[in-house]
Amino acid sequence: MPATKTVKDYIRTIKDFPHEGIMFRDVTTLFADPRGFRIAIDQMLHPYAGQRIDKVVGLEARGFILGGAIAHQLSVGFVPVRKKGKLPAAVISEDYQLEYGEAVVEIHDDAIQPGEKILVVDDLLATGGTAAAGIRLIERLGGEILSCAFIIDLPDLGGRARLETMGMDVHALCA
Ligand code: PRP
Ligand code: ADE
Repeated sequence: MPATKTVKDYIRTIKDFPHEGIMFRDVTTLFADPRGFRIAIDQMLHPYAGQRIDKVVGLEARGFILGGAIAHQLSVGFVPVRKKGKLPAAVISEDYQLEYGEAVVEIHDDAIQPGEKILVVDDLLATGGTAAAGIRLIERLGGEILSCAFIIDLPDLGGRARLETMGMDVHALCA
């Protein structure tokens, strides 16, 4: 272990969770460490210094933890993109496919105003299905996505290429 731990050093990998064949990147060990959590938030924000961000959108579930901290740091609002059936008011929905399943995500239909500059946040980019669905929701509401920020990019699963094909700027701290 290096003398000064990097963000990646705080993350552990759990084999065969939630299904056989998945190497699950567990960021709870990063979040639980005060230095690890702080450097992750600081490094995720670094590329956007001086840029306008009106709202942070976090993708369920670990994007809520990161997105909440980032929104607080920026003094802007936080908007959750949630799995189907969790949000109480009127929503719009998008279907998507996961590395290990299918799902639907939703956003409140009044959560973003047209023209607002949005930073999308999640812990991990795999196939990009979750982020792409979140992006579609934001764009349907008229939000303008500045960038998508992740802790981990699993490049072999094609998520970055997929988001870049959609015209997105993508940042991740480690692979
Ligand atoms: C994980 C991760 C991302 C998504 C990435 O969440 O936190 O949101 O998968 O995969 P993708 O790029 O292939 O879409 P998960 O679906 O496990 O849901 P959870 O956060 O609610 O546990
Ligand atoms: N979401 C999709 N693939 C994942 C992985 N390998 N680890 C953690 N979250 C994931």
